[in-house]
Amino acid sequence: AARRVSGRTAAPMAVRAGRRALVCEARKVALLGAAGGIGQPLALLLKMNKFVTELALYDIANVVGVAADLSHCNTPVKVAGYTGPEELGACLKGADLIVIPAGVPRKPGMTRDDLFNTNAGIVKALVEAVAKYAPNAVLEIITNPVNSTVPIAAETLKAAGVYDPKRLIGVTSLDIVRANTFVSEAKGLDMKDVDVPVIGGHAGSTILPLLSQTTPPVTFTEAEKKAMTDKIANAGTVVVEAKAGKGSATLSMAYAAARMAESTLLGLNGEPNIYECAFVQSDVVADCPYFATKVLLGPNGVSKVMGLGELDAFEQAALAAMLPQLKGEIQKGIDFVKNPP
Ligand code: NAD
Ligand code: LMR
Repeated sequence: AARRVSGRTAAPMAVRAGRRALVCEARKVALLGAAGGIGQPLALLLKMNKFVTELALYDIANVVGVAADLSHCNTPVKVAGYTGPEELGACLKGADLIVIPAGVPRKPGMTRDDLFNTNAGIVKALVEAVAKYAPNAVLEIITNPVNSTVPIAAETLKAAGVYDPKRLIGVTSLDIVRANTFVSEAKGLDMKDVDVPVIGGHAGSTILPLLSQTTPPVTFTEAEKKAMTDKIANAGTVVVEAKAGKGSATLSMAYAAARMAESTLLGLNGEPNIYECAFVQSDVVADCPYFATKVLLGPNGVSKVMGLGELDAFEQAALAAMLPQLKGEIQKGIDFVKNPP
């Protein structure tokens, strides 16, 4: 059976194509923030993706050169660059999938929430344009703080009367990519076999890997479990510190976002059993309107939000402990649009 789970490492396209005939629809992907640290490698990966037909690259600066450069790669994906708000509509029109990494990254000593003041307005303005020009596209938000920018996007789409929770996705796939890497390394497992679901949100202790649900099953002592959980939750900060003021994760994020985009396109194309972990509107946890869990991707975006499964005692305690922060960051995003200061 062609079951793909969130932890899969992308299988070679030929293997996948050989398994069954895939429907390849014409698909336009718009990337907003395309000239940035994530935007450029993500654009390259999308240019190499056989499920993408057209790639529309938008930024406020430097995108014409990026588009010219990328357009010389001899893959069939058609590339165009768009600069500045007056060209945003043309970039978005007809898009099936819109991916947003626009905004500032962290520097050492900052939390993701410290980016709120700059990035909240950027996301709101871009999503207002999405509502106007591509209200039916699936929208994937990478911009931090994800725990707040996804509610900002939702409220912005609601205000425009075009919100559909199935089509709004907060990208947390980097947490799964990291969890799979670290657990594979720790246990000497083949990377492609390992799947660690990561739930909650995308900041500090709201990032909770479910090590007890790892495929294949692995065992950790209580001390190892805590150390591995902290390592996964702090991995973004480790990169921020290693880059020492020159930004945050870009290459691993581009890899993770490309995987999320491909899974989304497979779902849109009708491929069954495509699962990823993502931060979406959810009623899985009481009084927490957005939450990251495994979701099933389908022809309209998120087809089904999966449950938590069985948590061990450590995970239950970590889930309870994260909720005040997660709910607060969600509310901050909602208030930014609904009750602006
Ligand atoms: P970057 O500074 O290298 O690139 C950001 C790009 O956004 C720049 O090219 C900039 O010109 C552009 N931009 C700024 N305002 C814009 C606007 N109004 N419209 C269009 N483009 C605009 O930053 P980066 O390293 O690519 O990171 C981007 C964002 O992604 C940050 O907020 C970062 O925290 C976040 N991030 C999220 C995850 C995740 O797991 N979700 C992982 C890594 C980074
Ligand atoms: C990450 O997890 O790498 C991103 O959220 C960027 C950051 O600020 O850590």
